[in-house]
Amino acid sequence: AEVHHYDFVLKEKNFTRLCSTKSMLVVNESIPGPVIRVHKGDTVYVNVHNQGNYGLTIHWHGVRQPRNPWSDGTSHITQCMIEPRTNLTYEVIFSDEEGTLWWHAHSNWTRQSVHGAIVVYPPRETTFPFPEPDGEEILVLGDWFEVDVNYVIHEELKVGGFSTHEPNCSTFNSQPGDFHDCSKETTYRWLVDYGKTYLLRLVDVHMDELTFFAIAGHNLTVVGTDGAYIKPIVTSYIMMAPGQTMDILVTTNQSLGEYYMATRNCYSTTTVHPGYYTQINATAILQYRGNYSSSSPSFPSSTLPYYTNYKAGIDFMSKFRSLASEKYPVDVPKNISTRMFVTVALNENVEDLYLYMAASLNNVSWLDPTLSVLDAYYWNISGFYTTDFPDEPPTYYNFLEEYLGLNVTQSFMATKVKLLDYNEEVEIVFQSTNVLNSSQNHPMHLHGHSFYVVGLGEGNFNPNEDPKGYNLIDPPYQNTAIVPKLGWFALRFRASNPGVWFMHCHIEHHYTYGMNTVFLVKNGGTVETSMRERPSNMPSCRSSSIHGIQ
Ligand code: C2O
Ligand code: CU
Repeated sequence: AEVHHYDFVLKEKNFTRLCSTKSMLVVNESIPGPVIRVHKGDTVYVNVHNQGNYGLTIHWHGVRQPRNPWSDGTSHITQCMIEPRTNLTYEVIFSDEEGTLWWHAHSNWTRQSVHGAIVVYPPRETTFPFPEPDGEEILVLGDWFEVDVNYVIHEELKVGGFSTHEPNCSTFNSQPGDFHDCSKETTYRWLVDYGKTYLLRLVDVHMDELTFFAIAGHNLTVVGTDGAYIKPIVTSYIMMAPGQTMDILVTTNQSLGEYYMATRNCYSTTTVHPGYYTQINATAILQYRGNYSSSSPSFPSSTLPYYTNYKAGIDFMSKFRSLASEKYPVDVPKNISTRMFVTVALNENVEDLYLYMAASLNNVSWLDPTLSVLDAYYWNISGFYTTDFPDEPPTYYNFLEEYLGLNVTQSFMATKVKLLDYNEEVEIVFQSTNVLNSSQNHPMHLHGHSFYVVGLGEGNFNPNEDPKGYNLIDPPYQNTAIVPKLGWFALRFRASNPGVWFMHCHIEHHYTYGMNTVFLVKNGGTVETSMRERPSNMPSCRSSSIHGIQ
């Protein structure tokens, strides 16, 4: 195992996309920011220097961080902001994961421009569970907003409604591509040689909505997701949600030339290439080195599902299986002591006249405390949170009905956490609801633990029938999984990481509206099973706000 040091310098910088220029806070002058490359077992110290205008925190998405919630970087949950003109060194411990992960700001919506990939190679002297690739490539799938994203939250939260400034388009490594005006010259190109196999590492950093991705003329062989390997899936398209990562083998076996890579992510009103006027959000080009007659690149239109095709998404997700081999064993919890049934909803905000929307888990809409939950827990200061997050919704009803009354749809703002004993085995069934007639996919993400996705289905969860179909043999091991629109999914994990760990929808609007909760995993009784001591360099909780938002 080795130790690595990185310096992340945060500064405002001007960027031009789609004929308009704006300033964004970025790391080391680039978007995406620097790639962290490690082998499993390594430790990384990242010194974050905030030379921007507002406070932020940085989170290592999908990194377990054993016993070390202090470096999880989640604002209001594990720490207070790194204020302008201050710095903080995070200690990031790579104990469990192998594959692609990412890092991002975890405060306000700053992650829109503050993010980058993490590559975790197999431990030194060991190999991948597939033949060594000839090369690798990272594609970060993100957004471009014409205005400052923090102004978008301001509009949504303080002007009483939806923002008029949704993302303008998707991007590949921050480039919208040549279906848009003003960005043809800067279209991202991935240069390859003929007859090779490449490991393509995809990171979905979108703020909103799921994404379909395909490469014209090339099959994709998915071999990993969320920093864990899976049994290879050969497919013509993939679907990802904000927060997810995917490792894909691509064989360059086509005749020399250029092939479009494209994403469909949302409805876009931006001008796009004539003939492909619907929902093509971003393009990049896979380009073979060598001489070829350049006609226009071929486009994956027939393989790329329409962005609202939720069925195609569920079909793809249900194919995931862990390797479940001697070298990569699975350890699915089978003695569940805590069972939770959690409804996921978007609600009208009936408590705060300034907030039009709310979002909730079991009708509780998360309210950020003014001191981090971790500090309040560590110092045993009461009054910042309660430990009564409910294990089930207040009432049972037909969750997918279109017109649901206020008696079942109302949510209440509170800071309620769920207490877990060290090492206890937990099952959570997430049920989608159609409150406000607005069911959609929700990528739920858990910090500090990955979990097994043991079941997934359409409709209302049936507690008598559906568990019979659970996969306890080779379920995929993920940190972010999708509650399908008008459906449910079930996960299991062992609470083996003492500390305070956030769980939330990775769609930024829903996160802001409160579709979140916290697991507080108690210490296990010995030093090795207890969380570490509080580092002395943690930032203190002065107020740090953008447009008055904490
Ligand atoms: Cu990718 Cu709570 O974060
Ligand atoms: Cu959501």
